[in-house]
Amino acid sequence: MCGIVGILGRHEVAPVILEALRRLEYRGYDSAGIATVQDGRLERRRAVGKLVNLSDLLVHEPLRGRAGIGHTRWATHGAATLENAHPHRAGPVAVVHNGIIENFAALREELAAEGVGFTTQTDTETIALLVRRELEKGASPRDAAEATLGQLEGAFALALLFEGEDDLLFVARQGSPLAIGHGDGEMYVGSDAIALAPLSDRITYLEEGDRAVITRAGAEIFDAEGRRVNRAVQRIEMDAARVEKSGYRHFMAKEIAEQPRVMAGLLEHYLPADEAARIALPEALDFTDCDRVTLVACGTAHYACHVAKYWFGQLAGLPCEIDIASEFRYRDPVTSPREIAIFVSQSGETADTLAALRHVKDRVKQVVAVVNVPTSSIAREADLVLPIHAGPEIGVASTKAFTAQLGVLALMALRAGQQRGRLDQTALAEHTTALRALPGLMNSALGLNETIADLAEALAGYRDVLFLGRGTMYPLALEGALKLKEISYIHAEAYAAGELKHGPIALIDTQVPTIVMAPRDALFAKTVSNMQEVMARHGPVVLISDAEGIAEAGSAVWKSVRMPEAPALTAPILYALPAQMIAYHTAVAKGTDVDQPRNLAKSVTVE
Ligand code: F6R
Repeated sequence: MCGIVGILGRHEVAPVILEALRRLEYRGYDSAGIATVQDGRLERRRAVGKLVNLSDLLVHEPLRGRAGIGHTRWATHGAATLENAHPHRAGPVAVVHNGIIENFAALREELAAEGVGFTTQTDTETIALLVRRELEKGASPRDAAEATLGQLEGAFALALLFEGEDDLLFVARQGSPLAIGHGDGEMYVGSDAIALAPLSDRITYLEEGDRAVITRAGAEIFDAEGRRVNRAVQRIEMDAARVEKSGYRHFMAKEIAEQPRVMAGLLEHYLPADEAARIALPEALDFTDCDRVTLVACGTAHYACHVAKYWFGQLAGLPCEIDIASEFRYRDPVTSPREIAIFVSQSGETADTLAALRHVKDRVKQVVAVVNVPTSSIAREADLVLPIHAGPEIGVASTKAFTAQLGVLALMALRAGQQRGRLDQTALAEHTTALRALPGLMNSALGLNETIADLAEALAGYRDVLFLGRGTMYPLALEGALKLKEISYIHAEAYAAGELKHGPIALIDTQVPTIVMAPRDALFAKTVSNMQEVMARHGPVVLISDAEGIAEAGSAVWKSVRMPEAPALTAPILYALPAQMIAYHTAVAKGTDVDQPRNLAKSVTVE
């Protein structure tokens, strides 16, 4: 949610900031802006909509200067207008901000009472106005920034640039992430290391409450109490090419296609090839005397938890609860000192998931983070981190992170089954063999691209679509519906197949296709009955199944997608691919913005 960048460079910075913002655009694309200091003068350019609009503006109205800040916005306070675009400026100071200033209304009232006027509806403008007030009282830029920070409540990452100061950035982090990049006579800041990837691989992550005074000579970092602190400089291996589309039309297409490779890499990590059935998860992950598992996440990551609920029950006999992070802490969850709480998040920065983690941290046996970004806030605050090794995911709709989350969760459930004596070596070997076969099956599923593109052409003409599944295919149906609605804007709902006749069947008619996800497994016959109920009411059915399932279902289905056969453990991971491809191709057929769907942003750092 909003991306921020700051650079103190040796050369012109506006084009470099623009490039860095391009890598952060997944965090929001309602407007974008850059401010620089040139010959002591503070100037800014802003444009509504995507970054390309700012880029066009800069062609006609270039910005000069070797010091600058930039922002790409996901609107919270105030519509996506030019006035509300960052950087916000008040006299000699400009600010870019990610997060929400919760007490901004009170601060605005205070300023209004002093006769201060406002030009925007944003909370961020208040920061600039407060800093200006301090500067007018004679404070130095740093003291003015410090005094302002003391008045702000809420979550933020911010960067300040001052008129007359060509070698100074003031940055602060409270609740939203911020990384400092170290260059050769240059310094950088960004919302994440991806933004800085081609500029620097030496990164310092600010801790909660940290602020930093940055000059080209380096960064002086202070904690929330104002004590000078040392924060490690880490070497981050971030191949800049990994955040490019590499010939694909969209990041989402690239990320879907990457899944066999990602899964193979993940398995190499957690299932060493030399030992038949050894799961290389940390020793500290011990389910032996644990009395239950709780899994908490948002959106797609929550659906991964939903699949894992079946696995923990079936493979390890462990009671398992799942919850949506934004609900979890408000329902006063009952905790147990023998409970393992698992928080799943691609970004590791989702505000609700982080807050849920903090809510139970000291009340359970262990807090585990399953994340894609091992340096993220959720990873840092967990007792144990299990990275999913998916590589940067840029498309706003999560794809490869979902299947990688499932891969790690499956291994955790297997480990639990082993430790609790539910799985003997033979059963374990069977499951690990199934996992090892998964990258190959994923490759075959990707071969269905053309078939699915044809199906999507037909689906694109409908307004509503239903998804059905049973067992682990139920969360997959939920994921299929989420993916379709978020990128194609077609209204899609998912139900457990057995629930259909308890209400949703009223929706069925010739204009509502139903996508049934049903491998030929123990539940197949029951799902087929539900499918017949749809067809009896003239609802067009798309069946996603294997050859045996499709043959058994008969010829009355409207369309079918023939998947490779998969064992029960890996089927829900494999069936994510056709669900993603259906959403992708339907969105392409409808001409929507696949990687940056309307109203959305990746990395949801506000509650
Ligand atoms: C949907 C999607 C979102 C995220 C959710 C959680 O395609 O990407 O539903 O899954 O916002 O994000 P993370 O996993 O970063 O916590």
